Amino acid sequence: MIILGIETSCDDTGIALIEYDWQKKCRILSNIISSQIEVHAPYGGVVPNLAARAHLKNIKPVFEKALKKANYPKINLIAVTKEPGLIPCLLVGINFAKALAYNWSIPIIEINHIKGHIYANWLNNSNIEFPILSLVVSGGHTQLVLMKSHKDFKILGETRDDAAGEAFDKVAKLLGLGYPGGPIISQRALKGNPLTFNLPRPMIRNKDYDFSFSGLKTAVLYEISRHGLSSTPLSYKGCSSQRHALKLSEKYINNMAASFQQAAIDVLISKTIKAANEFKIKTIILSGGVSANSELRKQIEEKIKKDLSNIKFQMPEIKLCTDNGAMIAMASVYKLEKNIKK
Ligand code: KG4
Ligand code: ZN
Repeated sequence: MIILGIETSCDDTGIALIEYDWQKKCRILSNIISSQIEVHAPYGGVVPNLAARAHLKNIKPVFEKALKKANYPKINLIAVTKEPGLIPCLLVGINFAKALAYNWSIPIIEINHIKGHIYANWLNNSNIEFPILSLVVSGGHTQLVLMKSHKDFKILGETRDDAAGEAFDKVAKLLGLGYPGGPIISQRALKGNPLTFNLPRPMIRNKDYDFSFSGLKTAVLYEISRHGLSSTPLSYKGCSSQRHALKLSEKYINNMAASFQQAAIDVLISKTIKAANEFKIKTIILSGGVSANSELRKQIEEKIKKDLSNIKFQMPEIKLCTDNGAMIAMASVYKLEKNIKK
């Protein structure tokens, strides 16, 4: 079976073709992504209408590239992101998918974007053992999801305010580092000392599995304000020019990036380990854009090996962590199997 996966929920136009057989073998034939960094960088974040327009412009060339790379196979099924996401952006992908399905007389499966991230893990391993604990960390969501089977998903906890990726992006903005912030913070953190600033680890000791990253971001904001001896607290808007006014040194920026990143990682790992113990998990999986963070990848793997040696750990390849069409195509396989077996 050849599946076309279409993803347009935010600022990446992603189209992929995957081949899947019922022995559960999966092969990515093509996975083309057109990102819109230049469109949104001047605004320091994604502007929904500009994103939708860029998807409209990009979707056809991305689709043609994906077909060409896969050598124009016969497509049996279309999978498209339905929600959550920016409505004008989602509509571009959904309408494109519907037009293709009508033209080719093939079915469409609509996919939840977060499940798409989770299923990125099945692109390189079809034998992930249940029960699974999935830590989803993206720009829009932070969730701990308990999966007892492909049919049984339960959200154990989620962020009460900012998502982890959103916090990376906002802290990068405070430090004048540009957009998207996650990859830049992660690069800067490599050169910094995570022990420099004693930042809070919000909700780390709470009994539940919810997260909060807004207070951590505000702690960074106050620390920068104090550093600049500024009586007026910084605002998020215009902070890159304020950074120049404050003359934050490269060393300060690197140390702050490392300290913030470590605080966020500590909370994510601690809650994951706690949930894995409580729910007698067999496998922990990681997913979402922030799971491309090299320090998070390294530390969570080490921690699981050390403290939960009987639990397996799985994460997607770095290029499959951020939004892409292959993960959407993969998720459709399990939605289809689930419906067939019902
Ligand atoms: O999953 P994704 O591509 O889109 C959403 O569904 O939101 O995630 C994008 C988020 C952004 O906030 C971005 O800054 C963050 O993932 N991100 C990272 C890294 N690469 C992307 N955060 C930390 N470290 C990274 N290396
Ligand atoms: Zn995403």
